[in-house]
Amino acid sequence: MKPQPYKTLNSGVEMPLLGLGVFDMHHKEAEQAVEWALETGYRLIDTASMYENELQIGNAIRTSSVAREEIFLTTKVNDKDQGYASTLRAFDHSLELLQTDYVDLYLIHWPIKAARKETWKALEKIYESGKARAIGVANYLEPFLDELFTYSEIVPAINQVEFSPFLYLENLKSKCEKLGIVLQAYTPLVRGLKMNNNLLQSLAKKYEKTPAQIILRWSIQHGVSPIPKSSNLLRIKENFDIFDFEISANDMKLLNMLNEDFRVVDNPMELL
Ligand SMILES: NC(=O)c1ccc[n+]([C@@H]2O[C@H](COP(=O)([O-])OP(=O)(O)OC[C@H]3O[C@@H](n4cnc5c(N)ncnc54)[C@H](OP(=O)(O)O)[C@@H]3O)[C@@H](O)[C@H]2O)c1
Repeated sequence: MKPQPYKTLNSGVEMPLLGLGVFDMHHKEAEQAVEWALETGYRLIDTASMYENELQIGNAIRTSSVAREEIFLTTKVNDKDQGYASTLRAFDHSLELLQTDYVDLYLIHWPIKAARKETWKALEKIYESGKARAIGVANYLEPFLDELFTYSEIVPAINQVEFSPFLYLENLKSKCEKLGIVLQAYTPLVRGLKMNNNLLQSLAKKYEKTPAQIILRWSIQHGVSPIPKSSNLLRIKENFDIFDFEISANDMKLLNMLNEDFRVVDNPMELL
């Protein structure tokens, strides 16, 4: 199998493009999934304070034979903790649970109107302390990015948003590219809801892959970082087995055309 692709973030840190998301995994399930993922070759783990499994993710990383420095660990500030001092406190608590003295990426989980400015200022402070090797945002559609740039001193390294062929945010993708922000795709598999789509099924046959692998490969070829969730060993392996084939330019275009603004998670523009 070809080596997995990495991208250099604007903070100079190298990040693997494919990661494991651990939303909705509890305790032993989360620990087991991370253990399997690291054994499979994943080096990016995406958690959040809100997922209430940082302790288990920390356990899996601490007991793994993979060195901490080889693992790219992301966590996020919970909505209830947003604000300057409360974010600084929440970050320290996340480090304790994760049993590490730094994270690779710290994100604002949601652009909460009343607190997002102060929260970003806290993230800049954390970045300057060296305890987060990169900082970024999640759910920042264009208007939120425009507002952020009126007061930020540091350009976010990552913007993590819902993104899939069924929610192909082409304008946001090119805006982020121009700004030097890497786009990260959450819910990249549309939580399994679109696996029977005819085009996905026919491309899966053509490339001798599964519909999930077609979607993840599509993201990678767009230079976008997908973070599929699975707590099933076979699917963890399946989702990682995408580095030995290439989707043609024409098939990439057909996949782009699946866009129907289909969201699984709330639209950030509607939940301020
Ligand atoms: N920043 C944010 O606001 C935000 C919001 C949502 C999600 N996220 C992040 O993004 C990650 C991924 O998103 P998500 O968990 O919502 O959804 P997802 O990755 O699109 O889908 C996960 C679902 O698909 C199933 N699945 C996994 N691999 C599969 C495969 N190869 N074939 C068929 N089904 C498969 C999983 O079941 P099994 O576990 O049984 O395999 C699970 O039910 C999250 O875990 C989280 O880290 C961030």
